[in-house]
Amino acid sequence: MNLYFYSFTIVIINKTNPLIAIGMKQIIFLFIACVIHYSLHAEDGYRLWLRYDKIDDKNLLSQYSNQISFVHFTDSTPAILAAKEELLNGLEGLLDKKIFFNDQIQDGTVLAGTIQNSNIRSLVSAGDINKIGKEGFIIQTADVNKKKIIVIAANTGIGVLYGCFHFLRLLQTHQSIQQLSVVSAPSIQLRMLDHWDNLNRTVERGYAGISVWNWQTLPVYIDKRYKDYARANASIGINAVALNNVNANATILTKAYLLKVAALANVFRPYGIKVFLSARFSAPMEIGNLKTADPLDPNVQQWWKQKADEIYTYIPDFGGFLVKANSEGQPGPQNYNRTHADGANMLADALAPHNGVVIWRAFVYSNANDDRFKQAYDEFQPLDGKFKNNVLLQVKNGPIDFQPREPFHPLFGAMPATPLMMEFQLTQEYLGFATHLVYLAPLFKECLDADTYANGKGSTVARVIDGSLNKHVVTGMAAVANIGNTINWTGHPFAQANWYAFGRLAWNHEVSSAQIAEEWIRQTFTNTKPDVDTIKNMMLASREILVDYMTPIGLHHIMGYSHHYGPAPWYNKAERADWNPVYFHKADSEGIGFDRTATGSNALGQYMPEVRKAFEDSNTCDEKYLLWFHHVSWDHKMRSGRNLWGELCYKYYTGVDSVRWMQQAWNHIQPAIDAERFQQVKMLLEVQYNEAAWWRNACVLYFQTFSKMPLSKGYPQPDHDLNYYEQLVFPYAPGIGGNQ
Ligand code: GCU
Repeated sequence: MNLYFYSFTIVIINKTNPLIAIGMKQIIFLFIACVIHYSLHAEDGYRLWLRYDKIDDKNLLSQYSNQISFVHFTDSTPAILAAKEELLNGLEGLLDKKIFFNDQIQDGTVLAGTIQNSNIRSLVSAGDINKIGKEGFIIQTADVNKKKIIVIAANTGIGVLYGCFHFLRLLQTHQSIQQLSVVSAPSIQLRMLDHWDNLNRTVERGYAGISVWNWQTLPVYIDKRYKDYARANASIGINAVALNNVNANATILTKAYLLKVAALANVFRPYGIKVFLSARFSAPMEIGNLKTADPLDPNVQQWWKQKADEIYTYIPDFGGFLVKANSEGQPGPQNYNRTHADGANMLADALAPHNGVVIWRAFVYSNANDDRFKQAYDEFQPLDGKFKNNVLLQVKNGPIDFQPREPFHPLFGAMPATPLMMEFQLTQEYLGFATHLVYLAPLFKECLDADTYANGKGSTVARVIDGSLNKHVVTGMAAVANIGNTINWTGHPFAQANWYAFGRLAWNHEVSSAQIAEEWIRQTFTNTKPDVDTIKNMMLASREILVDYMTPIGLHHIMGYSHHYGPAPWYNKAERADWNPVYFHKADSEGIGFDRTATGSNALGQYMPEVRKAFEDSNTCDEKYLLWFHHVSWDHKMRSGRNLWGELCYKYYTGVDSVRWMQQAWNHIQPAIDAERFQQVKMLLEVQYNEAAWWRNACVLYFQTFSKMPLSKGYPQPDHDLNYYEQLVFPYAPGIGGNQ
């Protein structure tokens, strides 16, 4: 703000000579006016994409204004009341005029409600109603007794709410609303955010402040944020949230905390959001005084049944439990020589009478000798068909751990009798924390669009997840949240786009990354086409740029030990081999990469033959995945004509240069962006540039100790020697809390 103000004042004083002549009083007056002006228009990012400022295109504004003057809601359930409040606020802001409620239909009425209302029912087709299910909606223009109106219809109040958000989005993104005919329904049932929030408000892998849940002041004090959080989620169709860390503390299941959870559930309910809790498997021992947590012990089973019954007395629509068991030191059924299915089914039985579900995580790997890539598959695939039907198995998008690029997890398509739920990560644990601009929709889409070939060609991961491949009724997609109590929720202003993109893709995985980016930019920054395009180009390129300067050609997990901040490909001191970067890149004098073909760990054997075939030959394997699957010699010829070493350097250097390009693109559109967020992003891009160069320098110098080859001509020599990078320590790296 100061910067903006000073430069503004200086410009005025320098450019308009008469100003120099006017007295001190006027200058002070101007100063105050500027401050007021600025603070009215300050964009701290709190409103996310739900910014309902007056539409700045005059023609469009008058068109919209002619079409919309009244709203008429047919019901008054909590969800409808939430819809009414949102629509009214949104329209009054965007159209900059008073919107009236009316009981009669007039020209310019937006008529919103469920099909229980006969007026609404008569205006929409039975076919469309059948298509939209419980949560979908219809938006259409209609003529009623020569009155031109807009109808927002759904089977339920939540559907109406989603319809209102969609309608507002059309205006926010400057779409024509003259001939509307929208029929929309979600392709996935549970669209969920997983918070890794601890009860002391630290957030595991969180880079955006502390937890938004203030456990100390709940249940009495209801922070305004809770409702705004619910609005933001509902606006993109997110309908479930796990409040606490998967590395769970059993205390959340005690009465005092359940009442706090219930208070949050009450805020979320009108917005269609169900609350889930991460359950610690050993809770019966820790808070129930039992001697065991063995899932086959009748006392343990009884304890969980009673706990579930108790939870439902406070939260009648409680979603269920999310469980991390026998993974990274967490307790689980294997402590008692039982299987994951025994554990999940015990909890499923406790929840079943209340229609709750168990989300059991497949993120497991032990300190075994075998390739970590293979372990979740080996553990879970044989359990296919053994889970109760209210259990979903939540699988991370890739086999290792949320890397900048991973091949899809081999469990997708390999467990046809079990509903598999997707787990993505929004918080940028391995992607530069909240300081790197990286738009994740392309990463999500790459996984969702990948073909598992499980039932022949076209058996995409998306079709495994949405249940259409194996006819599952319960379906889900989750993402680890990137939200904290920082004013703009996510730290980096562009990290909001990842939250947004996740919700939009969980609703409809067929929407393109470009469309989602464009929507978000128009709602968040600007509707001016060339500026939209500039930002969109930055966003769409950003993930590949990050891969280039961090982990090109299929490198993975070479980040700093435990905190995962910055490069540490040299690290080899972890207590477990598979927590060491050297385990993953396997660089030696011959070459680099992890041989996962039949001559190596044969992880490729876990995929269907078509997928295996695409990856198994180092000469035909998509080079983006080369070092995931092959140990390749330094002089291996790449498609570009360079050898592997040359290509590696090329990627690292281009990655860093491309961050410069993003900086220039951003600077170019300065006039289109509010001062506050422009400056924030500018500074963050500078951090990103410095860190990208750090990644490049450290990795190139380290890998050069094996390749023994020079840098190509024209590439600047790193600023420091390898020793310098190896000695850097980061006691301040945020977000730690995991085991590695
Ligand atoms: C990663 C992360 C941990 C987290 C774990 C999980 O390993 O580093 O902090 O607990 O994933 O997904 O359970």
